[in-house]
Amino acid sequence: MRTGVGVIGAGPAGLLLARSLYLAGIGCVVLENRSRGHVECRRRAGMLEQGTVDALRACGAAGRLDAEGMEHRGIELRFERAAHRVDFPSLTDGRTVMIYAQTEIVKDLVGLQLADGPPLLFGAAALSIEGALSDRPVVRFRHAGRDQTLECDYVVGCDGFHGIARAAVPAAVRRTYERDYPYSWLGILADVPPSSEELVYARGASGFALQSMRSPSVSRLYLQVPNGTLAPDWPDERIWDELDARLAVDSTDWRLKRGPVTDKSVTPMRCRVTEPMRYGRLLLAGDAAHIVPPTGAKGLNLAVADVHLLARAFAALYHTGSTEPLDAYSELALRRVWQAARFSDDLTTMLHMRPGASPFHDRMQLARLHRIADSREAAAEFAANYTGLPLCSTG
Ligand code: APR
Ligand code: PHB
Repeated sequence: MRTGVGVIGAGPAGLLLARSLYLAGIGCVVLENRSRGHVECRRRAGMLEQGTVDALRACGAAGRLDAEGMEHRGIELRFERAAHRVDFPSLTDGRTVMIYAQTEIVKDLVGLQLADGPPLLFGAAALSIEGALSDRPVVRFRHAGRDQTLECDYVVGCDGFHGIARAAVPAAVRRTYERDYPYSWLGILADVPPSSEELVYARGASGFALQSMRSPSVSRLYLQVPNGTLAPDWPDERIWDELDARLAVDSTDWRLKRGPVTDKSVTPMRCRVTEPMRYGRLLLAGDAAHIVPPTGAKGLNLAVADVHLLARAFAALYHTGSTEPLDAYSELALRRVWQAARFSDDLTTMLHMRPGASPFHDRMQLARLHRIADSREAAAEFAANYTGLPLCSTG
């Protein structure tokens, strides 16, 4: 096979890139090693920055998002059993966020691509990438029981942090920056309406809790748990009791609604950033280049921001011959990645109880939270980062 851009991975990054390239008239092929069913059912976050919503709308992939997504104009921070709302539009240039599950975005993009888009091969496992420094890189892959090759002008690794693309950047060139956090998240899905209309981030006396949602009738909630926790360690009642305790506020009659737990899983908290995001004619996008702690829901939004840059760069290259945007991709993408990593790290360390932390550390956390609650300038900086820095810039 031969194409313009070979895309490895049909997660949000690979699918949105393929859609953008197709609309720009640039040939591409997407290789995805899992099945369609697996890809469409992977539970991930569900908070979309304004820029992500705009990008999905621009490529005609936001029909269901606009019909079923829930626009949110703020969030609530809770600490010391008090609630503090952060309003987004009044603190930014009118920006809001959208709650819409990543699984639904993937379903929407897969449906579009299969109906009218470039080749999307499920069950196609990329095995190696050769000739990244040549002008004809080749992806070797296995599909339908046969070893095959895909000749490309460029290859984009959208295959996640443990994919082959990142590993194809030689160790002598590749630099990975990492942080592992001393706690994890226990996440549940429950068939019960959310107990608040907006998301609630709480620094409870015994740890972090987050109340999010997937729809008006499905809640998504998270608890900070020790590393090494196994989901069965936490029976449903224990989860609800701990969520209740951490989300509690004194000033209102707010109560956490309980219901049947339909999914339970534990996620480690880690940050990984790989530089550079380009090696010759191999580019990295999304989780293939970076993973940030889920606290700020930046993973999907960063993948979209990378793709937004890449799609513009390939359009410039194929339509005008200019290589300048592509040459600037890695540096520009990383500038925004590091801003999102910083914000995610700030939000994580501000809200989670670090095991063995000193009373002084706890007071520093509370001082940072009080600053956001009491200062318009600090709240505006929080809102600007939470709703997403503008795409293609880090201003
Ligand atoms: N060959 C083909 N496909 C592969 C290979 C391979 N060798 N290795 C991995 N893949 C596929 C995976 O099956 C997956 O579908 O690459 C895809 C990577 O998708 P994601 O992990 O969703 O990464 P990305 O598209 O960058 O989206 C980032 O997804 O994981 C979440 O939290 C993350 O929200 C963020 C978003
Ligand atoms: C989610 O709904 O999964 C979610 C929302 C906001 C976050 C993290 C996770 O900050």
